Amino acid sequence: MTTPGPIYVLNGPNLNLLGLRQPEIYGHDTLDDVVALCEEVAGRHGRTVEVRQSNHEGVLIDWVQEARTAASGVVINPAGYTHTSVALRDALVTLEVPLVEVHISNVHAREEFRKHSYVSPVATGTIAGLGITGYGLAVEFVCTR
Ligand code: DQA
Repeated sequence: MTTPGPIYVLNGPNLNLLGLRQPEIYGHDTLDDVVALCEEVAGRHGRTVEVRQSNHEGVLIDWVQEARTAASGVVINPAGYTHTSVALRDALVTLEVPLVEVHISNVHAREEFRKHSYVSPVATGTIAGLGITGYGLAVEFVCTR
């Protein structure tokens, strides 16, 4: 049996500033903490993760296209592109592996414009408002699929 490919954990714009940016909303955990959590959860299942962050829409789309053949699942926090990007959604819809949308904050309890997601309708499921714990739960879900 071949080992499953890595679970891609993709992060959109400004998430490189996690821990520094609006900690009252996004908390004090950093992207390094997200990496450590995802690696720990995946490791328990004998799986690996590939955690990446970009501030650029096209780069995220390139990674989603790469994930089509390389990944065993995709966890994505599209950040601001959640609410704007038809192009990212068009890429995500081509995936044939589980896709989990994660938001650190509860987007439904914030501004109106955050309540609409281009990604949610094409995701297997969405986790919002659980802080970085959401990434761990999303990776766990993909591992047990
Ligand atoms: C976010 C929520 C988005 O509305 C926002 O643009 C982000 C982060 C979250 O993780 O809560 O950048 O995706």
